[in-house]
Amino acid sequence: MASILIVDDDAHLRQSFEKLLSQEGHAVRTAGSGEAGLAMVESQRFDLVIMDVRMPGMNGLETFQAMRAIEPKLPVIIMTAFGTTETAIEATKMGAFDYVLKPFEIPEILVLINHALEAGRFMRSRVELDVVPESPSLEAIIGRSKAMQEVYKAVGRVAPTDATVLIRGESGTGKELAARAIYQHSLRSDKPFLVINCVAIPETLLESELFGYEKGAFTGAVNRRVGRIEQANGGTVFLDEIGDMPFGIQAKILRLLQEKSIERLGGREPIPVDVRIIGATNRDLEAALAEGRFREDLYYRLKVVTLWLPPLRERAGDIPLLSEYFLARFAREMGISNPGITEAANVLLSSRAWPGNVRELANALQKALIFSRGCPIGPEDVVQAIGSDQPSKGLAEDTPEEAIRQWIRKSLVSEESENLFETFMDTFAGLLISEALKLAGNNRSRTAKMLGLSRPTLLSKIEKYRLKVETSVLSDPGGTPAGGGGRGLHGAAGDAEER
Ligand SMILES: Nc1ncnc2c1ncn2[C@@H]1O[C@H](COP(=O)(O)OP(=O)(O)OP(=O)(O)O)[C@@H](O)[C@H]1O
Ligand SMILES: [Mg+2]
Repeated sequence: MASILIVDDDAHLRQSFEKLLSQEGHAVRTAGSGEAGLAMVESQRFDLVIMDVRMPGMNGLETFQAMRAIEPKLPVIIMTAFGTTETAIEATKMGAFDYVLKPFEIPEILVLINHALEAGRFMRSRVELDVVPESPSLEAIIGRSKAMQEVYKAVGRVAPTDATVLIRGESGTGKELAARAIYQHSLRSDKPFLVINCVAIPETLLESELFGYEKGAFTGAVNRRVGRIEQANGGTVFLDEIGDMPFGIQAKILRLLQEKSIERLGGREPIPVDVRIIGATNRDLEAALAEGRFREDLYYRLKVVTLWLPPLRERAGDIPLLSEYFLARFAREMGISNPGITEAANVLLSSRAWPGNVRELANALQKALIFSRGCPIGPEDVVQAIGSDQPSKGLAEDTPEEAIRQWIRKSLVSEESENLFETFMDTFAGLLISEALKLAGNNRSRTAKMLGLSRPTLLSKIEKYRLKVETSVLSDPGGTPAGGGGRGLHGAAGDAEER
């Protein structure tokens, strides 16, 4: 739920907005003039203002400037009708979040409102570094490992400079969090922070979204549009997934970095802009370079200051801290009390490869919290939470070793036995022998050779592990007593049928 202020002299429009946004679950206040709206921003906290341009008394632009002076990070959407677009464009150049033309479609305005709320959250909610936040509502980068200490140091060193930063790391390692932390610790922390996700925006729109356009630049460009970069003037632009940025646009970004200017589509003059660029990617940029998908000049320009975020498996020691943090946060969000987590569960979590990194861990903990039904989260809850996950693609888990590890981990927490070691080794040996028997067509001499055992040793092991070897006349033509196929390990005593 967000608190939203509507400023418009049209009572009918105020009411419609109030109804619409309350239905969406927001707390809505309204003001009939710029002066009244300003007074409200002075006295209470809003997450978003939606404001008309043309109003008697203080107009939208003046009101926007005054609000900006009080609350520089308050996102403002300007509503404009035919004839006042120039003013709205002025407002966006001064940092208003965006403008919409009246009349507008409800779905369109709702999407814009959600974007603006998210942008505001990114700017205003602080990302703490290296703390166990007492209040789990705080967003924080959690981790005490050496690798994370290095990250904090790098953030601290690079934040107050105006240097371009490239953040790299696997998916879910916290690149976006790190970008926000850099912004918040920068000299531009009271200026806008704009996030552009280079894959979320279709290629055809990305260019005009970033750089804007002049009236008539293309069919449909009925008005001039100020691009995001120009809009963020003085502030920071976060180009997320920059490794996926279309090749054509990369040249324009390079130019922005080198010449500190942009050109609107269809524009003739370069427009000077002062923005700090932070980029992030989980892509193998070097491969993209080799394949010609990423410009070499941009690559070298970007990578000067690179922040690498470690994968979670390389800082497994941070997992107990992370689980404490996420459980407190999710419990609070779900309105339940935090049941805590057992040490065994933390051990289990720490032994996993986590190809999806912190994001995957957080998801698993959220599920485990649901399974736990109020009791401290145990290994069973973790197994259940992880087990119901989709298998992860193409990552460490797909190796045979990892498959075995997974099986071991699951057995370790689900099996209750005094001789777990022996049970395990027996199971393993049993599986090995039965698979070898299958491959050798149940020929025991060949099986023994394959496994590097003497025949008597093999026979005694078959006996020991009670491997059921069925008689088959068809197999083992060499006259050696044969079975029709090792059928794995049978626990029940007495069904060994050794020949
Ligand atoms: N060190 C951390 N401490 C606390 N939360 C974290 C940490 N790292 C990541 N997270 C959380 O994990 C989730 C994923 O993080 P984020 O979006 O920053 O990852 P990313 O590296 O940008 O991933 P992708 O490459 O998939 O975009 C977020 O909810 C974030 O808050
Ligand atoms: Mg990301």
